[in-house]
Amino acid sequence: MAESYCMHARPINDFIDETFEGIRAPFTAGFELTAKCNLNCIHCYAKPGRSHADMGTEEFKRIVDVLVERGLIDAYFTGGEIFTRTDFEELFLYIKRKGVLISLLSNITLLSEEHIRLFKEYPVEIISTTMYGYTEEAYERVTGVKGSYAKFMRALDLLKESQIPFELKYVAMKQNYDEIYKMREFGKQLGVPMVIILDVHPMSDGSTEPMSFRLTPQEAFEFDVKDEGRCNFWKDVAKDLLCGEMETIPQKTAERFRNGYLYPCSIANQHVFITSDYKMQGCVRASYRQFDLRKGTFDEGWEYLQREFVDKKSSGRYPCNTCQNIRFCEHCVANFKLAYDDEEQPDSFFCEVAAMRKKFVDQEIARLLQGK
Ligand SMILES: C[S@@+](CC[C@H](N)C(=O)[O-])C[C@H]1O[C@@H](n2cnc3c(N)ncnc32)[C@H](O)[C@@H]1O
Ligand code: SF4
Ligand code: SF4
Repeated sequence: MAESYCMHARPINDFIDETFEGIRAPFTAGFELTAKCNLNCIHCYAKPGRSHADMGTEEFKRIVDVLVERGLIDAYFTGGEIFTRTDFEELFLYIKRKGVLISLLSNITLLSEEHIRLFKEYPVEIISTTMYGYTEEAYERVTGVKGSYAKFMRALDLLKESQIPFELKYVAMKQNYDEIYKMREFGKQLGVPMVIILDVHPMSDGSTEPMSFRLTPQEAFEFDVKDEGRCNFWKDVAKDLLCGEMETIPQKTAERFRNGYLYPCSIANQHVFITSDYKMQGCVRASYRQFDLRKGTFDEGWEYLQREFVDKKSSGRYPCNTCQNIRFCEHCVANFKLAYDDEEQPDSFFCEVAAMRKKFVDQEIARLLQGK
């Protein structure tokens, strides 16, 4: 399934797919403004980057200029925590004035009245924030910082009052799983989109510690069938598959695999990620292959990423390219590489969840065929 950094990314990605099919250009980009953060979440993949020097204001402007020239339409800022950068407003206004659509990923605990005033004058597409727990106890069990829950809730009130578009994310882990349904309810009552992240992935340096906080595959699947929204999603998949409105293997994935490629997604094709130490990656997760923008030009880096990701072929032992469960899978080659130092080694968590989803959808199709 395609990855999106926030809800707003989906329509934009669809638009780019339809409008610029077959054109390789950085139409979308992620900018990690800093890996530093005022919180210290147990699962945070960005932790290994905390000690390096962040890209300078002028470095940021330079790469924005190049990306805009090469086709950038839509971007997101992430961290670490973006509001820890003292030049945040300058960076934000610079990219906004270039006409780029911009979304912000933030824990919002540092969101201020001044930020709200700024976003009222210069609108953001969406602020995508993460709520780490329903209760103070669970929230701070994840963030590791006393008082962070109160700051988060205050900022949430600011967002609600200001009517700035925002969405909530929730990373479901062992530490907060007991609150998953309360969280879902909270999101519904707030009336904002809510993304539940079930896949906790390795850190940017390949540490697999965060994976130990994952739910079991059974718990993850159980949420799929108990949650009304997710259950309806899989029921719709069953209907679409039955009517032939959806293929078992997504068309683009099938085509990439048929041609022997390893990466089925848009990595380094219509997307690029700029790290806080000024390196280019194919996407946020692919930290194992970077091009240093302090040592070469964007065009050299873009070529490097083409060779390393877009053109990279799989070997005969790669199981995902013949897998019939891929429609039900959060398949991510970057995840495999980080976790096992092997791009062709699937993560069994994905496989187990996908197999349970497939079974559920098959049963739903059988039920539909019987007219029940
Ligand atoms: C790195 S944070 C940056 C934005 C902001 N600081 C926040 O927490 O929302 C972006 C998103 O990635 C999530 N995240 C961090 N580490 C993760 C991991 N190991 N697996 C899955 N999601 C992770 C965060 O919880 C957050 O939703
Ligand atoms: S708030 Fe975001 S960046 Fe900060 S530690 Fe948590 S996940 Fe990482
Ligand atoms: S990760 Fe597992 S379920 Fe997913 S596509 Fe690969 S083999 Fe299939």
